[in-house]
Amino acid sequence: MKILILNGPNLQRLGTREPSVYGTTTMQECLAALAAQYSDVEFDYYQSHVEGHLIEQLYRADEAGFDGVVLNAGAYTHTSIALLDAIRAIAVPVVEVHLSNVHSREPFRHHSMISAACAGVICGFGIDVYRLGVEALLGRMK
Ligand code: DQA
Repeated sequence: MKILILNGPNLQRLGTREPSVYGTTTMQECLAALAAQYSDVEFDYYQSHVEGHLIEQLYRADEAGFDGVVLNAGAYTHTSIALLDAIRAIAVPVVEVHLSNVHSREPFRHHSMISAACAGVICGFGIDVYRLGVEALLGRMK
């Protein structure tokens, strides 16, 4: 089992970025917990502020035969037709995640450009959304 955890812009600051919205757990702590809990899963992690780099990683995951992608596209969620098209162009399932409940925030966060192409969406459970995304992917494989 190979799963790519893919984070978009500003998510390298998890732990210190707006802790009242995103919590105090760092991505490194989250990844260590995932590796410990799912020892039979091989995790790969990539973060970029650059939209095109995220798209390249989606194609890489597809071509390298990954079993799934947990994607937090950050603000590109709300703007990126290019990410939508990339997710539509690949076979590997993508689970969209957001730490915050985007539907209880500003109106511009209520719409996701990418949800329609994703296997499903998980939001609002803080850092646990990454684990829930992994569970969703594992559940699809049973
Ligand atoms: C986010 C929600 C987005 O609206 C925001 O731009 C982010 C983080 C989340 O995880 O809650 O950068 O994707």
